[in-house]
Amino acid sequence: MSESVKFEVGGRSLDLPVMKGTLGPDVVDIRKLYGETDVFTYDPSFTSTASCESKITFIDGDNGVLLHRGYPIEQLAENSSFLEVCYLLLNGELPNAAEFSGFENTITRHTMLHDQFDRFFNGFRRDAHPMAIMTGAVGALSAFYHDSTNVEDPEQRMISSHRLIAKMPTIAARAFKYSQGQPFVHPRNDLSYAENFLRMCFAVPAEDYKPNPVLAKAMDKIFILHADHEQNASTSTVRMVGSSGANPFACIAAGIASLWGPKHGGANEEALNMLKAIGTVDNVPDFVQGVKDRRHMLMGFGHRVYKNYDPRAKIMQQTCHEVLAEMGHGDDPLLKVAMELEKIALNEDFFVERKLYPNVDFYSGITLRALGFPPEMFTVLFALARTVGWISQWQEMIQDPAQKIGRPRQLYTGAVKRDYTAIDGR
Ligand code: SDX
Repeated sequence: MSESVKFEVGGRSLDLPVMKGTLGPDVVDIRKLYGETDVFTYDPSFTSTASCESKITFIDGDNGVLLHRGYPIEQLAENSSFLEVCYLLLNGELPNAAEFSGFENTITRHTMLHDQFDRFFNGFRRDAHPMAIMTGAVGALSAFYHDSTNVEDPEQRMISSHRLIAKMPTIAARAFKYSQGQPFVHPRNDLSYAENFLRMCFAVPAEDYKPNPVLAKAMDKIFILHADHEQNASTSTVRMVGSSGANPFACIAAGIASLWGPKHGGANEEALNMLKAIGTVDNVPDFVQGVKDRRHMLMGFGHRVYKNYDPRAKIMQQTCHEVLAEMGHGDDPLLKVAMELEKIALNEDFFVERKLYPNVDFYSGITLRALGFPPEMFTVLFALARTVGWISQWQEMIQDPAQKIGRPRQLYTGAVKRDYTAIDGR
């Protein structure tokens, strides 16, 4: 017999079924709670609430485990490629050779943007934050690709998914080039996804960019590390927006907006700014004291789910060393500051008691800076890579028979009913 939980309130009682996943904690199904007992649950930041059923990504936060479709992130980062991970997240299985080559070809042939789209960028100030440009430009895709906005049509859904994965590097590179005052560089089909992106960012008309294999591999690995992370704030935003039937480009634009915040994807930019402000290893103890005194946060540390090392942070740290060595920046003072900060923080009671460990954003900024990107671009790169996670979760949501429009309820604590008084009587 299946398990249930007895819930009693106001003399009424209800048996709530317990649902079991393949991994992770059991889930109490409270869908009938309000209908049968007239009470809601209260969980404002979803600390105890599973908002959906999913088969895509699993995190064991206590043990620092991250699986995509069952495959550990360490194995994917070491042996796979970003495009293969995209296929895996989107379709559920790793591709065979023919499937991969078809997928790679499709993505490669969707990288160009409608010519008219380039005019869109000119409306922004040159000093606009590239995340502002990304939010606007990705939202604008729905005005250019009308033939893939019908969310009821599985074929259109897949075309829009491919378009988003393919066009995001082109848009991100244009946001970068625009801020640099340099002409846009068009995609090239003979390059890999990461090589093509680096070339679109760093080639100039006077000098082509020859991709460095070590840096292209590092870029690809960074994309893998950011590809998906179950029901985080931006993914939940994409699902919520998509639940109303909004088109996929609008949903992903909403995800980008959510990612921008410094508590989420914006933390990579903030973490680098923090390391720069600390400056040298001598200043680390003072800075840590400031965190304990709650004068500032330690950006790139802490996580809602990981109460252990974020496995992506470990891989990112290793990638950081590889990139710095390749660029001849092995003695980057910011890396020294980061390592000292991590060492001190991991031994201080304040951090140990709260189980605060480095997250994916802690080492990514130093790595991306060494690759040649300014801090404003860091969250853009996160958004580029996360697009596949967002769109895979959006696809899953649309196909879930339990899915309805998202509509949370509330605990109302405002004024009770009262009568309007005319202005001269107040
Ligand atoms: C990402 O969810 C995801 O999966 C996100 C992500 C993804 O891939 O999608 O992994 C990407 O967003 C990584 C997180 C990037 N953000 C940062 O690095 C910003 C700094 N971190 C914090 O803001 C914070 O840790 C969060 C937002 C990441 C998590 O917040 P929670 O779960 O709501 O935890 P909390 O804020 O309630 O913190 C618990 C305690 C508090 O102290 P007390 O009030 O209990 O005494 O820990 C303290 C916090 O003040 N704390 C920190 C801290 N993080 C938490 N104190 C100092 N520095 C920090 N970084």
